[in-house]
Amino acid sequence: MPQDTTVEIKPAKGRPMLTWVGKRPLRHVTAFPAQHVESYAPSAASPLPPSARAAGDGASPLPRSGRGAWGEGPWPAAYPQGGLLFHGDNKEVLAHLLANGYRGKVKLVYIDPPFDSGADYVRTVNLRGAKGTARVAGEGYTLGEQIQYTDIWANDNYLQFMYERLLLLRELLTEDGSFYLHCDWKRSYLLRCLLDEVFGPANCRNEIVWQRNYARSDSHTYNHIHDTLYFYTKGEAFDWNKQYTGYGPEYIDRFYRFVEDGTGRRYASDNLTAAGLRNGSSGRPWRGFDPSRDGNHWKYTTEKLDDLDAEGRIHWPESGGMPRYKRYLDEMEGRPLQSIWTDISFLSSWSGEREDYPTQKPEALLERIIRASTNPGDLVLDCFIGSGTTAAVAQKLGRRWIGCDINKGAIQTTSKRLQAIMQAQAAAAHDQAQQMAMPLSAGQAEGESEPPPAQLSFAVYRVNDYDLQLQHNEAVNLACEHVGITRTHSDPFFDGTLGRSLAKIVPFTHPLSVLDLEEVQRELAARPEEERDVTVVCLGKELAADAWLAEWNQLRTRTKLPNQIAVIELRSDPRYGRFLEHHPAWAKVTIERRGATIRVTIDEFISPSIIERLKEQAGVLAPQIDDWRAMVDSVMIDPAYDGQVFNVTLADVPEKKSDLVAGAYELAAPPTETTVAVKITDMLGEEVIVTERV
Ligand SMILES: C[S@@+](CC[C@H](N)C(=O)[O-])C[C@H]1O[C@@H](n2cnc3c(N)ncnc32)[C@H](O)[C@@H]1O
Repeated sequence: MPQDTTVEIKPAKGRPMLTWVGKRPLRHVTAFPAQHVESYAPSAASPLPPSARAAGDGASPLPRSGRGAWGEGPWPAAYPQGGLLFHGDNKEVLAHLLANGYRGKVKLVYIDPPFDSGADYVRTVNLRGAKGTARVAGEGYTLGEQIQYTDIWANDNYLQFMYERLLLLRELLTEDGSFYLHCDWKRSYLLRCLLDEVFGPANCRNEIVWQRNYARSDSHTYNHIHDTLYFYTKGEAFDWNKQYTGYGPEYIDRFYRFVEDGTGRRYASDNLTAAGLRNGSSGRPWRGFDPSRDGNHWKYTTEKLDDLDAEGRIHWPESGGMPRYKRYLDEMEGRPLQSIWTDISFLSSWSGEREDYPTQKPEALLERIIRASTNPGDLVLDCFIGSGTTAAVAQKLGRRWIGCDINKGAIQTTSKRLQAIMQAQAAAAHDQAQQMAMPLSAGQAEGESEPPPAQLSFAVYRVNDYDLQLQHNEAVNLACEHVGITRTHSDPFFDGTLGRSLAKIVPFTHPLSVLDLEEVQRELAARPEEERDVTVVCLGKELAADAWLAEWNQLRTRTKLPNQIAVIELRSDPRYGRFLEHHPAWAKVTIERRGATIRVTIDEFISPSIIERLKEQAGVLAPQIDDWRAMVDSVMIDPAYDGQVFNVTLADVPEKKSDLVAGAYELAAPPTETTVAVKITDMLGEEVIVTERV
């Protein structure tokens, strides 16, 4: 894989332009290498030929299909031809894709970024198992809420964040590619300006209103029940497949009001005449009706009218009026889709799609967008993938896909979701091949309503190490709790208050630097009325920060100015010393070779983080969990682990939360000595890998 590369970015295209404090053009970005961490292909029991299963080998997994299939130039050599899932900040991931052969290759981008809602998005985490499996004093165990991502931004950072991503995404689109941005009323007006600037106003194709809720009654003003989707294209020519919706009952009653005797078919009656006189048979009387009396002519010749009548396609009004044409409801494709979408409801708790990921969007929404703007084989990109909806639908519709998210929980959820889909697709291809009593790969399946999958494997990559990012959201909460900071979610810059001072938590990914302090300084300058002191909480600090702080505080003391800055260093401050203690999850696993089989038995699993949370949530001192499996979300096994890329060969991910993992497994052993790796992921997303040479 190439080393760091500088990627040039074209300036924004047009006007109008929105400006904000600190707006910076993005002329170039640095692309870092990506690390391949996991691969998946349907299990060894699948009937597909090995080439279709091997993610990571660069071979084309399935025949390419359909118009518009990936075909312009070879697939970038650095990547296997399957789905690609990136864990990292999308600015870095997009730069990486630009530097590695994907510039101008993506047919459709759909993004559903944070909406600048000022909220933390959480999911409720429960232990696995039927009710009663893991309980204390009659109470079901819950692990409470886990932050998945934070949507709280300081000042205009949100606009700069979105601007940079839009510029990068435009570069990745094909010349005939399409772009959809999903947002809501709070920031839509600003995002529209950004999109006009980046894509040019002439390339705005639609503003789509998606009614996501029915009436609610929780507001003192009109309820917000819709989201907005902006549809732009990169250029004038773009792929477009018209989509249709069904007719509502009201529409049918109004326009298709006739029911044919005998067949029961519903039809509308259409005019058989058109304006203007004609000389031929279409201008002459037919069956006693003369259209020329009203200055009209028949739309067909009289011979054709005879044929239509013989076919029963002429409606003869009982009133004795002009004959009309029967347009049958069952022959219509539906109503061409308009820009207001009211027929897709938000995910309900009973929908089979629920992944327990906050802000998950319905598959029907993505299905419509992907069908309209791509063809089978095209590449679809979503760099805010969340629970993986875009990738899931792209996979089901035979498109290629790339997904990205900064949150490890999102990557884990998407990975599990795509594994289940690919496994089902492989099984369906197998059944179909057997029914036809001849060997048939998934890519050759015929006569099915959906196009065949464009791939049956995917690989997970990491760009920089963002495990800490997951912890940052959590860490802010934990640090606040630890230090005694009261959170103030309404403040876009400060995290809360500590006594009478404002509190700011510096991301734990780096030591406190002068740049962080200058940010605080800028914020205070923008709040001239602010009299309170500031406490900055960090893990550690750079030496230069000490000098800066000393000068700042001395000046305040000398000139009797407010806003002294104090620092709490969690790593070394004796008052807060235990903050960094983390006891990793631990498992006892027996891995043995028995002839041609490898046997894996998980004897025990303990997650101290889960135990801690249970103590907090259930208010018990020492919670007892009789069955370790209640704590485990999934088990994956790679029987030939190379120490770097985890190839998922066996996956145990019970679909229902009430079901437990099996805990004991058998799989085919490679012929020679091998390293078997067992990855256990707990309900909080913490992973443990146990390896053994057998
Ligand atoms: C609104 S959710 C997307 C939900 C998704 N459409 C679905 O159906 O599940 C936004 C996602 O963007 C991710 N995100 C936020 N900032 C990001 C960044 N800088 N890079 C990559 N992902 C980011 C969040 O972790 C979150 O999963």
